[in-house]
Amino acid sequence: MIKKIIAAAGLYLWFGISAGAWAEKPQVVILATGGTIAGAGESAVGARYAAAKLPIDKLLSAVPQIHQLAQVSGEQVAQIASQAMTSEIWLKLARRVDKQLRRKEVAGVVITHGTDTLEETAYFLQLVIGSDKPVVLVGSMRPPTSLSADGNINLYNAVAVAASEAARGRGVMVVMNDEIHAAHSVTKSHTTALNTFVSRGKGPLGHVEYGSINFYQPPQPQRLSPFDIRKLESLPVVDIVYGYANASPRPVEALVVAGSQGIVHAGVGNGNLFPAVEQALIEARRKQVVIVRSARVGSGHVLRNAEVDDDKHDFVVADDLSPQKARILLMLALTQSQQSSQIQEWFYRL
Ligand code: SIN
Repeated sequence: MIKKIIAAAGLYLWFGISAGAWAEKPQVVILATGGTIAGAGESAVGARYAAAKLPIDKLLSAVPQIHQLAQVSGEQVAQIASQAMTSEIWLKLARRVDKQLRRKEVAGVVITHGTDTLEETAYFLQLVIGSDKPVVLVGSMRPPTSLSADGNINLYNAVAVAASEAARGRGVMVVMNDEIHAAHSVTKSHTTALNTFVSRGKGPLGHVEYGSINFYQPPQPQRLSPFDIRKLESLPVVDIVYGYANASPRPVEALVVAGSQGIVHAGVGNGNLFPAVEQALIEARRKQVVIVRSARVGSGHVLRNAEVDDDKHDFVVADDLSPQKARILLMLALTQSQQSSQIQEWFYRL
């Protein structure tokens, strides 16, 4: 009898402590969208695999250690390879993130994502989510079936960052390969390497090793977004035209005919344009298409009115945004304004 009472008391104590410890942990919601982190391959040493195969509960059960960091729950928002990402999924995802962050008890959100367009989704969310709680995108370069797969440790580190008080007020972040990057500057820089994500110019925000976080700078005051997506069903059509020697004006001409509302040109050097393409873009602007000059070189700022007379042609420059991120800002900008001067101000500020 005495043994039974001691056992019952022990059990109560264990559950009591566990429940207490559980209640004290921050809540983190994981929204899954697919990618290699949820992929599966035929062989542990072969390059052939398919992305977006495992559902969220399988991803979570593969990393039981995340429950030591936070009270974690998961939700499947999409199940795609990220090369198939669409504006519609971005809008749906942004609404899910917003809904979760509005819950007082939620400390932060993690989004599992393919790495190919991860930086685009991160920047889209950066522009539309108005919360100082952490939003962390994470992926992997190797599928879970691979030898030395990187997904589990990346997910563990992402949850640690999302649960951390120190991560508040830092906008949307990307956690990969032990580094924490800001959505604005992060980019994929190598087709297959584990250390593919870099923030050229600015460097990473910090690093995270086995859940231990170190930010290099204090949080910056958050830049408020002027874009409200609550009533949007779709985004304006904006396309990218790549610049090169002896370039053809035909892609620009065809896009105007097809109804593009904006064109981002990925120019050479400081966003420079082959003369026939410049002429086609001037014509496009006359037809109310908004033109953004960006650069294909991968780092640096595009300077206004350097070799191209942006004022005269009513062009916008992308500042330090890559062509793919300039496209996202232009899509959102066009939901509010057609004016180059207003759009330029957003490119300098956001
Ligand atoms: C994808 O982006 O979905 C495929 C590649 C990856 O996740 O690394």
